[in-house]
This record gives sequence, C-alpha cells and structure tokens, in this order.
Amino acid sequence: MKFFVDTADIGEIRQALAWGILDGVTTNPSLVAKTGRRFEDVKREILALVDGPVSLEVTAEDLSGMMQQARALAAEGPQVVVKIPLTRDGIAATRACSDEGIKTNVTLCFSANQALLAAKAGATYISPFVGRLDDISTDGMALIADIVQIYGNYGFATEVLVASVRHPTHVLEAARMGAHVCTIPYKVMNQLFDHPLTTAGVEKFMADWQKVPE
Ligand code: E4P
Repeated sequence: MKFFVDTADIGEIRQALAWGILDGVTTNPSLVAKTGRRFEDVKREILALVDGPVSLEVTAEDLSGMMQQARALAAEGPQVVVKIPLTRDGIAATRACSDEGIKTNVTLCFSANQALLAAKAGATYISPFVGRLDDISTDGMALIADIVQIYGNYGFATEVLVASVRHPTHVLEAARMGAHVCTIPYKVMNQLFDHPLTTAGVEKFMADWQKVPE
C-alpha cells in the first residue's frame, strides 16, 4: 500500500520524506488555508520536493472553470494529480481530464455508487473519506471494502485512496482490505511508529550496553 501524507505543511512533508516511506502528497483548500501561506508558494515548494504524485485541488465549481484550472495545474509538473470534487461537473471534468491524459483524484466520495461514477469517468484515484463517515456514525471502512470489491469485479484501473484517516487502525484496515493508497495526516503517520514495547526495548538495550566492558 502506498503512503501519501495528507498535508500542505512543508516541514511535515520534509520529515515524511526523510523517513523514506513517502510515496506522495495530498492537499486540499482547507489544508492550504491552515498553512497561512499563498497557494502559489505552497504548491511550488511541494512540487520541488516531491517526485511522487501530488494532489492539488481545483476550486472552480463549473466544468469549464475546472478544466481551465486542471490544465494549468497539470502543466506544473508530471507528478501533479488534479483533485476534483465528486459533483456532476466534477465527473464530467474527470472524463475530460482522462481523455487529455491528465491524472485525477476524485475527492469527497461518500458512497460506492459515487466511486463507480469516478471509475467509469477514468479517474486515476478515488478518495473515499472514511473519517467523515465515522463522524456521522456510518462505517467508513465498510465503504472501502465495497469499493475494493466492486473495482475488482470489473477490473477498473482507478486506485482506491483511503482519505480522511483519523487513526492508525484506519491505516491497518485499509492495508488488510487491499486499498492501493492511504493518505495519512502527519500526526497519524507518527503514531504508526510507536509501540510501548519498542520504546521499553530500546531503553533496556541502551542501559545494558552501558554495562558492556570496553
Ligand atoms: C483527502 O485527500 C483529504 O485531503 C483529507 O483526507 C480530508 O480529511 P479530513 O476529513 O480530516 O478533512
């Protein structure tokens, strides 16, 4: 399973890259706003750092506006994936991007039928938001299982990108289900490393090492 980091924070991206486990980055307008920086600056820095897929979201809501932004974003680098919301115009834009060879990440997916629409439109990735479903007492990971099965039934090339991840168990379940990608907030990525027995084991080894004669 590929690991993307779900952030627009350059420091977080640098650290995830330094760990050597990062395959790509996803951003969205809220994550960019959180940085307090201009989109142009954030985008330029991320694209200079990351060779893997970088999702950058369109902010137009109509087909022609989305296509204008999609073409401009795609021209910024071969690693750009244009993130498009799962609306009627968004699905039409996904089809047009696919026909033009522009990679897409269809976002704000909350149902298997929506995922089916994205695959039929030729999306590169579909982003089902598991955490936001959990937030409304609906099983987010059950949606992932459905989509993985449906895409498998028909051999769709669209990759399942598990989004809105809230905790390490989401990552584990995504891997068990065979999702292609999990986009992980920096905090959760950190949590994947930690186990109390690892911490205690390192402390014991270091303490015992002091007792070894020189
Ligand atoms: C996906 O690509 C989105 O950026 C993200 O996962 C949304 O997560 P949230 O529900 O925590 O905002």
